[in-house]
Amino acid sequence: MKLLIINGPNLNLLGIREKSVYGDMSYADICEFIQTESKKLNVEIQIVQSNIEGEIINFLHDAIGKFQGVIINPGAYTHYSYAIHDAIKAISIPTVEVHLSNIHAREEFRSKSVTAAACLGQISGFGHYGYIMGIMALLKNNK
Ligand code: DQA
Repeated sequence: MKLLIINGPNLNLLGIREKSVYGDMSYADICEFIQTESKKLNVEIQIVQSNIEGEIINFLHDAIGKFQGVIINPGAYTHYSYAIHDAIKAISIPTVEVHLSNIHAREEFRSKSVTAAACLGQISGFGHYGYIMGIMALLKNNK
C-alpha cells in the first residue's frame, strides 16, 4: 500500500515553533519516525510539505492513480480552506486529517475544521503518533 502524507504551512518549523504546543521534535525527525514505523506496517510512504495552499491542492491532484490513501495535516488551512476541502473530495482517495495538537482544546477558531468533513475522519491531539494512527486507519479502511 502506498500512502501520501501532506503537511501544510508552518509544519516545517516543528521543533522551533511553539514547542509547548507542538513539542521539540524537529520536522525531519518526525518524518524519519514516520518512515521507520511505516516500514514495520509494510506501508510505503511519501511525505511532502508546503506553505502554499495551491501547492497542497496540486499534491492532492497528483496523488490520483499513485496513492491508495492520503494523510493530511493542513495546518491553519484546516480552519478556512474550502479549496482544500474540495480537492480532497475531488480526488476520491480515502483521506485522514491529522493534527499534532488537540484543536478542540485550543483557541475557538481552531475547533472548526472545514476540511475534516471531506475526510474519513480526524485524529487530533496525539502528537506525531497521530500520523501512525492515520496510517492504521487507512489500513483498516482498505480491508
Ligand atoms: C495544527 C493545528 C492548526 O490549528 C495549526 O494552525 C497548525 C498545526 C496541528 O497539527 O496541531 O499549524 O494543524
